[in-house]
Amino acid sequence: ALPYDLAGVRVVISAGGTREPLDPVRFLGNRSSGKQGFALARAAAQRGATVTVVAGSTAEPGDPAGVEIIRVTTAEELSDEMTKRAAEADVVIMAAAVADFRPVSVADAKIKKGAEGPAPIELTTNPDILRGLVESRDAGRIPADTVIVGFAAETGDETGGVLDHGRAKFARKGCDLLVVNAVGDGKAFGTEDNTGWLLSSSGTETALPLGSKTLMASRILDEVRALVPDGDRT
Ligand code: C5P
Repeated sequence: ALPYDLAGVRVVISAGGTREPLDPVRFLGNRSSGKQGFALARAAAQRGATVTVVAGSTAEPGDPAGVEIIRVTTAEELSDEMTKRAAEADVVIMAAAVADFRPVSVADAKIKKGAEGPAPIELTTNPDILRGLVESRDAGRIPADTVIVGFAAETGDETGGVLDHGRAKFARKGCDLLVVNAVGDGKAFGTEDNTGWLLSSSGTETALPLGSKTLMASRILDEVRALVPDGDRT
């Protein structure tokens, strides 16, 4: 049986991928399925948490039961929702695959082939939501004891590259926990199973053995729970 150890804890989770429109019918997107974010939402709800999911595009047949779902499309919409909701959360988990860049402008009408061949797509940088949440906490805009969890989807070889990239990212982002996954070659995005490492700000690095995204979710929530102040649990 699952522990009922997140009763009264408010958890906000981003899930799925963002889509950045180019014109009314086209977008820049990614292969995130939302499976890991939804698995976290289900597991947290089963452990008694009050869960809100802010979801971009997902490839899951059903929404997780017993959680509030808010749908967004772009990174900027996701940023707005997460910033608003983080102020009322005990735990914020950024499991979404956020587009780092978006087209500078969105065409009003479908872009035509044209006689000159393809036109270049000019891009601009999206806000780093995770980094922004940590900065908000540092600045006192969200409570100092809010637990902030990030994900790092990295390509590289199984042994060195992925974990090294993850460690560097952890140092840059300043969150409390970072879930490091290998992606590419059919790994992690859209799959049933997941594997990786869990890095914590106390310096621990826990290998997460290959297993279902549900199992991964419960391992992540075990570490999250240990970071939630006792006063937030009822
Ligand atoms: O920098 P990178 O995209 O690899 O970082 C991954 C982590 O940062 C994930 O937790 C993702 O949700 C978050 N992220 C974000 N805003 C972005 C890009 C990534 O919050 N613009």
